[in-house]
Amino acid sequence: MFGTRPEAIKLYPVIVGLMRIPEIETTICVTSQHRDLLDQTLNALSIVPDYDLDIMIQDQNLFHITQATVARIEPVMNAVHPELVIVQGDTHTAFVAALAAFYARVPIAHVEAGLRTNDKYMPFPEEMNRRLVDQLCDLHFAPTERARANLLAEGMDETDIFVTGNTEIDALYLARETLSPQQTFDYPGYIVLATTHRRENFGDALRRVCTALTRIADRNEDVTIVLPVHPNPHVREPVHSALAGHHRIVLLDPVDYVSFVHLMAEARLILTDSGGVQEAAAALHVPLLVLREKTERMEGVETGAARLVGTDVNEIVATAELVLRDRTVYCKMKSAESPYGDGTAAVRIMDVIKERFL
Ligand code: UD1
Repeated sequence: MFGTRPEAIKLYPVIVGLMRIPEIETTICVTSQHRDLLDQTLNALSIVPDYDLDIMIQDQNLFHITQATVARIEPVMNAVHPELVIVQGDTHTAFVAALAAFYARVPIAHVEAGLRTNDKYMPFPEEMNRRLVDQLCDLHFAPTERARANLLAEGMDETDIFVTGNTEIDALYLARETLSPQQTFDYPGYIVLATTHRRENFGDALRRVCTALTRIADRNEDVTIVLPVHPNPHVREPVHSALAGHHRIVLLDPVDYVSFVHLMAEARLILTDSGGVQEAAAALHVPLLVLREKTERMEGVETGAARLVGTDVNEIVATAELVLRDRTVYCKMKSAESPYGDGTAAVRIMDVIKERFL
């Protein structure tokens, strides 16, 4: 079960793996917590859901997502009688789907288990969602050893934890090697790719990020900043009002996943508050700045692939210019080890599912 763009991307390799096992009947249920972003991703990855709960409303809040999903999931659980429910990550869909599976007494597998900042409100509500999903689920697919250690520290049974790597890397390789992009990109100079959507960055933090992007564009003539804008009105409106019209800043409508992978690979530097982009950039060896105060993905910061810069204007601008101008810093970040997996996470997940359920 899934509902947003990142879950669709990260479950894609799992769905492909499940579809190849004839003894397993796979049912895909989407909440459509995202409508446009999800449809674009399903289309790019040729995933056809069996059930669509169609919950998204404009400017929805967490109360709406919770109540609409709970209400609409029950008939699906009753019709399908699954033997296992698979959820991914830390969105509200993942949490509510796991809760519904628990109510139905169905075993739950969590793909990307064990990520933590240990700060209840950062990211909000994702940190609490993933903790709750890990409490509810029976199989934990942890992307890294650190995630496994987090689960053990919370008392999870070690026989239910499997370190698999992150399926984001599997999806990235599948997208690059087997799928065609719908868009191509050609911009002058270095591409600095930016994305932003986190709830805890709404308001002042997002305004500071926009100021930093403007300053980088003003001061660096050989740079084009490219920003695919998230459709959330709390992002779209401030970003457009701050950045539209700048001659070195390109604001794009959401880009389909396969095209986005190619855009990431073209970038000289990526600035983001996204989780999946941190993983993908490390695998593509593109230096990245994390626009957050805390990240649950410290592995990339520790290998040197990423730097945690927060949302302070001076810090963002100074670090971006350092990476763009200092060749030694750039090369060191670029050659850092990719810590999030080798593209075989879904194979490991399939092995566990086969062993437990067949
Ligand atoms: C959600 C997840 C977040 C994840 C992110 C990835 C929660 C609470 N948040 O955040 O963990 O990192 O997705 O993108 O689960 N909208 C559209 N069309 C779309 C998608 C969104 O119009 O296809 C607009 C709607 O107005 C919607 C708003 O964006 O109300 C917010 O969407 P929502 O899913 O609540 O939160 P995200 O910020 O996308």
